[in-house]
Amino acid sequence: MNTDNLDDLSSTNNLDHTSSLDSLGNLEVTASQLAASQNNSQSDFQDKSQRSMEVQALFNRIAPVYDQLNDWLSFGQHKVWKLMAVQWSGATLGDCCLDVCCGSGDLARLLAKQAGNRGRVYGVDFSVQQLQVARETTPANLAIEWLEGDALALPFVDSYFDAATMGYGLRNVVDIPQALAELYRVLKPGAKVAILDFHQPQSSLVNDFQQWYLGNIVVPMAKWFNFTEEYAYLAPSLARFPSGREQVRLAEKVGFTEVVHYSIAFGLMGVLVAKK
Ligand SMILES: C[S@@+](CC[C@H](N)C(=O)[O-])C[C@H]1O[C@@H](n2cnc3c(N)ncnc32)[C@H](O)[C@@H]1O
Repeated sequence: MNTDNLDDLSSTNNLDHTSSLDSLGNLEVTASQLAASQNNSQSDFQDKSQRSMEVQALFNRIAPVYDQLNDWLSFGQHKVWKLMAVQWSGATLGDCCLDVCCGSGDLARLLAKQAGNRGRVYGVDFSVQQLQVARETTPANLAIEWLEGDALALPFVDSYFDAATMGYGLRNVVDIPQALAELYRVLKPGAKVAILDFHQPQSSLVNDFQQWYLGNIVVPMAKWFNFTEEYAYLAPSLARFPSGREQVRLAEKVGFTEVVHYSIAFGLMGVLVAKK
C-alpha cells in the first residue's frame, strides 16, 4: 500500500472518536476507507502494469527502425550525448557496468569500450526485439551481456556495479522513483549513474524550437517509416517528464548524493548525474 494513503487514513482516524457511537461508526468508515485505499493501490498497480506493457509493445514495434531514426532525428548527435553520459558515469578500465533501458545498445557499447577488455557491461531492457537488434549489431570483441529485465526490479544483487548509465529510459519507465531506487540499490557505495534524456528548455525560444521540431520533423519522419502513432508519444512524454531540478530532488530522496543535472545541447537534452 502506498504511504500517502496510509497518511490519509491516519489523519482521518485522528479526527474521529468523539463518542462511543461515533467511534463504532468511525471504525466502519475506517474499514471502508482501508478497503478503498487498497482498491486504489490495486488499480494504481494495474494501471502501471498496463502502461508498462504498452511501452514494451511500442519499443518492440519500432525496434527495426529505431537506430536509423535516432541517427536522422538527432543528426548523429545522440552518440555524442551518450559519450558524455559515459564520461559522467565515471566508468573506467576494468569496471563492471550497467546500462538500464539499453534498447538497441549503443550506450552499452560505448560503456563497454570505456570498461575495456577486462571490464564487463550488462545491458538490460524489457523489449525482446530491441535486445535482438543489440545482439545482432554488437561486435564479438565487446564484453556485453544482454539481459531481458525490468528497470523497476533489476535482476542483480545490491551494490554490484562500479558505474551505470541510462539513455532515454527514465522518461519511459512508469515509476521514476522506483527506477532511481533500483539504480541506487545495485550501485556500489561511491559509484555513479548518468541518466541522459530529453529536457524541457528554460529558454522560450529553444522551447518553441523543440515543439516545432517534434511536430514538424519527428512526426513526419516517423510517418514516412509508418510509425506515426508510435512517435506521437514523444511530445506528451516530454511534457510529463520532471524538470532537471525535480529529477535532482527525486534522486536525493532515494539516497543519492552529489546529484547534479547538466543541461546540454542548448537545453534540449539533460544528463542527471548522481553518486551512491
Ligand atoms: C527510448 S528507448 C532508449 C534506448 C537506448 N537506451 C537509447 O538510448 O537509444 C527506451 C527503452 O527503455 C525500455 N524500457 C522502458 N521501460 C522499461 C522497463 N521498465 N524496464 C526495462 N526496459 C524499459 C524500452 O523497451 C526501450 O528500449
